[in-house]
Amino acid sequence: MVVEMLPRVRPREAQEFAIANFRLPIANFQRSRTQQIANRQLEISNMNVPLLDLQAQYASVRDGVQQAVERVLASQRFVLGDEVRQLEASIAEYCQTKHAVGCASGSDALLLALMALDVKAGDEVITSPFSFFATASAIVRLGARPVFVDIDPRSYNIDPARVSDAITPRTKVIMPVHIYGQCAPMDPLLDLGRRRGITVVEDAAQAIGATDNDRRAGSMGAMGCFSFYPTKNLGGAGDGGIVTTNDDQIAQRLRRLRTHGGANEYEHEEVGINSRLDELQAAVLNVKFQRLDKWSEERSRKAAVYSQLLNDADLSFPLITPQVRADGRHIFHQYVIRVPGNRDALMEHLKSHGVGTKVYYPIPLHRQQCFSNLGYKEGDYPESESAARDTFALPAYPELTEEQQVYVVETIKSFRP
Ligand SMILES: Cc1ncc(COP(=O)(O)O)c(C=O)c1O
Repeated sequence: MVVEMLPRVRPREAQEFAIANFRLPIANFQRSRTQQIANRQLEISNMNVPLLDLQAQYASVRDGVQQAVERVLASQRFVLGDEVRQLEASIAEYCQTKHAVGCASGSDALLLALMALDVKAGDEVITSPFSFFATASAIVRLGARPVFVDIDPRSYNIDPARVSDAITPRTKVIMPVHIYGQCAPMDPLLDLGRRRGITVVEDAAQAIGATDNDRRAGSMGAMGCFSFYPTKNLGGAGDGGIVTTNDDQIAQRLRRLRTHGGANEYEHEEVGINSRLDELQAAVLNVKFQRLDKWSEERSRKAAVYSQLLNDADLSFPLITPQVRADGRHIFHQYVIRVPGNRDALMEHLKSHGVGTKVYYPIPLHRQQCFSNLGYKEGDYPESESAARDTFALPAYPELTEEQQVYVVETIKSFRP
């Protein structure tokens, strides 16, 4: 591919630019770096830009991770030991909560949180249909019913204005998902929960370090559920998860539930599950945790640069960049754009030029085959269905270079629907 055009530079934006109150000093990037890089791009016919490059991330933490893994192997203590305790303390402090309870995955974090609230058959849990499968499966596994509420089409988060209509006498929990790393608007949800006596649990699997009015994800609801899946902003070397809470009794119950419902190995007060976080995962996560804020800042910088370049580009087709709340921190677990009518063709175009992309999520939860017995149908949640049709994620990981970003944008600019 030959890149013909440079991104436009306006003098007003030379010192800094603002995208929905997200201000970054990018004088160097905007005027000189981009220019230099784009000039060089003229000679580049193709470039490989994967959706995510975990090998590049590993290169930056290899020594620390190897030492930590060796330390665990030398100790031969593999389950719920010092590494897990250290991680739980770090995450609790980071998320501004009193407790954090490690478990085997983000999916289990959701399951354990709902178990700790005694969610059971006959109960209803209100959540978003535009999320990863585990958000709904945790509810269904306990015999309860997921009651979906459509999303706001700009943020892709649950629309709080629609939640009160979905409340019934059976509603036990409201479970917003902080999708792509940006908090759902928590105040109206918490307010509703308080007024109607309904507990709020945050599916914060994608949002570690995100904020809503200076409150960290996972600190606002009764519990926050996080995933350490390797692709997350804080990802392990396998599966892992954690539940945050300020409630002493809930924390104690979570600790019991994750070890088969028994405070002791052979005495069980209730039936729990086996969902322990292992020491190897915690050791890796303890090392990577030191970099978390830097990585999330880098992701946000990439996002701001994409939005600047894409919004300034004279595209021949509609493309909508992510909305960033002015009153929160978006950690950009994913950078997702909306391309009405042209999504699949643009993804194909990017793929043919070496750029990795992915759809999160192509089938809204109410349209999953395994939930057909719940009685939902096409058209029930039009905003989620439209987002599932029109959106996809661009590469936006910390190690992505400016050169790669310019290449991605120039490739998008060369697309003709
Ligand atoms: C919104 C959401 N909820 C729950 C999960 C489940 O986490 P895990 O994959 O660690 O089980 C994920 C992870 O992909 C997620 O993105």
